Amino acid sequence: MLKIEENLNLETLPQHVGIIMDGNGRWATNLGLIRSAGHLAGVKTLKEIIKTAVDIKLQALTVYAFSTENWKRPHTEVDFLMHLFSEYLEKEKRELNEKNVKIKFIGRIDELPKSLIKQANDAEEMMVNNTGLKFNVATNYGGQDEIIRATQKITRRVLNGEIKIDDIDANIFESALDTFGNPPVDLLIRTGGDLRVSNFLLWQSAYAEFWFTDTTFPEFTPKEFLSALEDFGKRDRRFGTVK
Ligand code: IPE
Ligand code: IPE
Ligand code: MG
Repeated sequence: MLKIEENLNLETLPQHVGIIMDGNGRWATNLGLIRSAGHLAGVKTLKEIIKTAVDIKLQALTVYAFSTENWKRPHTEVDFLMHLFSEYLEKEKRELNEKNVKIKFIGRIDELPKSLIKQANDAEEMMVNNTGLKFNVATNYGGQDEIIRATQKITRRVLNGEIKIDDIDANIFESALDTFGNPPVDLLIRTGGDLRVSNFLLWQSAYAEFWFTDTTFPEFTPKEFLSALEDFGKRDRRFGTVK
């Protein structure tokens, strides 16, 4: 069990944290390594962050592993990433299951390599009844793409006569999203120094607090993760109201 910082107030923890795990490539390049070495190092960080999330009993964690835009990268890097995801699942799924983690893949999963789809489905099935951390892995994920797919699902329900156009509200819309069943994202962390959302969880982070750091993902530590959570606890969340 990780020694949780004394000043971390567990009552003001976010329910759902999103992480844009960025800066892997630059971390590696700066050390004279190939970019893929950075992705490998990023997996190590991810394992530590999950351990911490489990220890503090976080409800939900969604990590950005591969965007719908990332297919534009060199084939070798894309291939490496797909193999890395497979290897990660193979090596980690038992331990995740023992930790009562419930894994879910979000995004256009059907466009991933066939073998990876099967592994993702198997891992989800293995953990389907788990009640601990909801761990969502955004793979071939784009927020705009998710909104389009949700719109298609809802339109089908209208055409089937299941619902009427005027029934469509935020609840119905949310139920058609990949993250259905998760609380809204209340803290969005981006490592690697860039100040943008890059098409991540657009609907879900409508009222998220943002936390940006220059630290690259391979260098990101549980300690810094906990300091982001602590900072979240100090934010004044007004949701449009006045005091
Ligand atoms: C994020 O790190 C991981 C993925 C997008 C898969 P990058 O690979 O984007 O690293 P930088 O931003 O180029 O340093
Ligand atoms: C966002 O990072 C995607 C992931 C972390 C998986 P990118 O590195 O792809 O984002 P941009 O290109 O800098 O916006
Ligand atoms: Mg990047």
